[in-house]
Amino acid sequence: MSLLKKQAKVLVGRLGETLFPRVVEDLETGRHSGRDIRLKRAILYARSQRAKKLGNEEQSESTLHQYWKTDTANDFYVLYGHRFQDWFLGPHLKLIDQLEAYAQENPIEHMIEVGCGDGRVLDYCSKRLTGIKRFTGLDINPMIIDANKTRYADNPSLSFVSENAQDWVPEHTGPGTLLFTYGGVLEYFSQHGLEALIKRHTQQPDSVIAIVEPLDPAHDLQNDPDSHIFGQENSFSHNHRRILEKFDYHVRFEEEHQMGPIRWIMMMATNKPRNT
Ligand SMILES: C[S@@+](CC[C@H](N)C(=O)[O-])C[C@H]1O[C@@H](n2cnc3c(N)ncnc32)[C@H](O)[C@@H]1O
Repeated sequence: MSLLKKQAKVLVGRLGETLFPRVVEDLETGRHSGRDIRLKRAILYARSQRAKKLGNEEQSESTLHQYWKTDTANDFYVLYGHRFQDWFLGPHLKLIDQLEAYAQENPIEHMIEVGCGDGRVLDYCSKRLTGIKRFTGLDINPMIIDANKTRYADNPSLSFVSENAQDWVPEHTGPGTLLFTYGGVLEYFSQHGLEALIKRHTQQPDSVIAIVEPLDPAHDLQNDPDSHIFGQENSFSHNHRRILEKFDYHVRFEEEHQMGPIRWIMMMATNKPRNT
């Protein structure tokens, strides 16, 4: 987006915020009215630019969650459906190979996919990681979760829940649980939010975390442990290894690669040391 377009969008967003309280209410309650989508996006954009300028990470995170919870995000699942075939079944499948090998030696009870979107990745995992008993797809977007409940009704190992992961995961993790994210989900959590999300999970016996997340191309992971806002969405680039090691996790697999403009990191870590 050119600078002029960005400024115009911020202006429309600020005006919208003042003049249309009903639209603001839709955003804040996550209502799926299907109306005023462009205005809602402009308001969220203005809010995220303001939060970034003020260095207010909590506000940045809350704006990102409002975007995904409201009907502003519904196009994503249609526009980016090809990612499953091209990306997940392509270079990202290596992470599932790692998980499969780990699960053969170490029983996993429950796989929770945070930000499961259209559920295709979780459905695939349930057919491949056959030793895992339960699979839960969690997403903040209620429309995609309703669609998944119908779409996967014939797969009894799957269940779907629409909640903010920040509230749900700490209450529902347990021993032998795998927390998984695919395609950019933890990027919508501030560092503080991410640490709060995983803290209780990492304390469970035999817990596992596996992720495929984008990074800021400029994030120097060797020297910079902190998370930063980056990119068009004003989302967060995290130093996942450093964060997981803070919680006494051991990284068993890590690989980075570039796909088009996106720098991806794949990582799998457990609270069991590597040689056990
Ligand atoms: C970039 S999409 C990825 C979707 C899916 N994993 C895929 O690759 O197609 C990010 C997903 O994370 C979900 N999400 C964002 N913040 C969330 C939160 N706080 N709790 C649960 N889900 C969240 C969004 O609703 C969205 O479906």
